[in-house]
Amino acid sequence: MAAPPWAGTASHQQFYVLLTGANSGVGLGIGQRIIDEFLTSRSLSSHLVLIPTTRSAAKSRQTILALRAHVEKTANTSNQLRARAGPDYNPKTVISRVHVLSVQLDLCDLNAIYSVAEQLVHGKISDPTGVIDDVAIPRLDAVLFNAGIGGWSGLDWLEFARQFLHVGLVQSTTFPSFKKALPAVILDQRKLLGDAAATSLNTPPPELAEVFCANVFGHYILAHELLPLLSRSHPDEPRGRVVWTSSIDAGHDHLDFDDFQARRTKPPYESSKRITDLLVLTAELPSVEKVAASYFASSPPATTTGEDKPFKPRFYLSHPGIVCTPLFPLNWFLFFAYWCVMYVSRWCGSAWHPIEPYLGACATTWLALADEAELELDAAGSNSSGSSAQRVKWGTCATRGGRVAPKETEVEGWGWDGRVEGRDRPEAETGAGILGKGRGRKWDAVALTRERREEFEADGLRCWAELERLRIAWEVALGKRAKGKGAAAAENGHRANGNGL
Ligand SMILES: NC(=O)c1ccc[n+]([C@@H]2O[C@H](COP(=O)([O-])OP(=O)(O)OC[C@H]3O[C@@H](n4cnc5c(N)ncnc54)[C@H](OP(=O)(O)O)[C@@H]3O)[C@@H](O)[C@H]2O)c1
Repeated sequence: MAAPPWAGTASHQQFYVLLTGANSGVGLGIGQRIIDEFLTSRSLSSHLVLIPTTRSAAKSRQTILALRAHVEKTANTSNQLRARAGPDYNPKTVISRVHVLSVQLDLCDLNAIYSVAEQLVHGKISDPTGVIDDVAIPRLDAVLFNAGIGGWSGLDWLEFARQFLHVGLVQSTTFPSFKKALPAVILDQRKLLGDAAATSLNTPPPELAEVFCANVFGHYILAHELLPLLSRSHPDEPRGRVVWTSSIDAGHDHLDFDDFQARRTKPPYESSKRITDLLVLTAELPSVEKVAASYFASSPPATTTGEDKPFKPRFYLSHPGIVCTPLFPLNWFLFFAYWCVMYVSRWCGSAWHPIEPYLGACATTWLALADEAELELDAAGSNSSGSSAQRVKWGTCATRGGRVAPKETEVEGWGWDGRVEGRDRPEAETGAGILGKGRGRKWDAVALTRERREEFEADGLRCWAELERLRIAWEVALGKRAKGKGAAAAENGHRANGNGL
């Protein structure tokens, strides 16, 4: 079997990216943007190995071909690449630096998640187009959790009219209250467990709701299983990164801890995104680390030699702003009308309307590729605040003309970076342009108080404890861990959580 095309390059010149839900919308945009920014920012001898996941072999093939076509287009048309390489520029050299492979992954099929993780960690990846021979990957530099479902049935036109009259076009197209959620779908336990296990278990594992599983829990399990590829042995190795996708519209009221998976009372999509915010932004807080420790520590040995890898990956949080994709179910006519209205909103001054998937991909791509030092800077590009990018929800903002940039997003209960600033009118202090904190705030946003900040941290702890409880229960049910060990760990999670859920 031939060595992979990047085999001759030094390890630090190879960059491995896994991207979920890459066959459409923002995911495809991220794939294209990663390729472009990698080629224009990294050394001329570096290689990108991009692994998009899709839900079928046919979609994987289509996605690989689409991304390869994008590489060719970029190589043949980019003036920036031409200028960088000088007079001897050869597009073929550029094309030979990008390699696209794919795996199939359904985040609502837990067994499939474990199989895909096993394939990535210990096995080989195939190229369904047959261009690259089966290959094992040594690590993952960035894992981008983009896949997701909306779970909506359509629009509530009356509510749209009410919100439009109340807060205007820009606010109602950024923080819409008029999306109608479908009743929650509960995943079939038999399918999840396999028929034999479903009947032989005395205590069935907790039920899982579809949107919760696709948007959060499936990714949560996947990141845990990929720890051997994401963790590092030495502090000077660049840390693995996991970029989680949220939404700008994920507020405090979207999550009800008595209905954690949003099966009864809350809209499942927004609830899942609020959990994502809490999960990522509190992951490194000392009070939460106690519960999160089991998640980051209990990975199987990193290599067949059992090498310890104590430096865990860093979690980052992003959202694409508002982008026109199939996420919201609209017929072609309404989709076109929606697309036009989004442009009007941007021209009316919205900060959060990149609209096109390639543009919406900006924040996630930046988090995947930026230098580690850059991620310690604040949004304005100065490190005066000393704020780490891990403490911020990064969204793609867009100017009227469609120039995009990563921008800090205010999170209810967390503010911009978890610090209580006591500023009700940040625009007065940070002023300038689209990146100013005053641009794009929700109409009812208020300054962060110490009490709300404490509540956010406590909510983060509850999220981590519940996700750990679910993970352990499902590991036991699927035979991935011994029962006694699972029960004890689940118990610890509950204790740390205080009262459980
Ligand atoms: N569009 C926006 O304005 C917006 C705003 C905020 C956040 N986001 C977030 O951006 C991400 C991408 O959304 P999008 O707008 O690009 O929507 P999209 O075009 O519908 O893409 C969603 C992707 O997720 C995949 N997916 C859905 N369920 C899955 C599952 N169970 N397992 C594996 N993959 C699954 C889909 O695969 P299939 O093609 O097989 O269904 C598709 O590739 C989502 O996380 C979404 O919440 C979008």
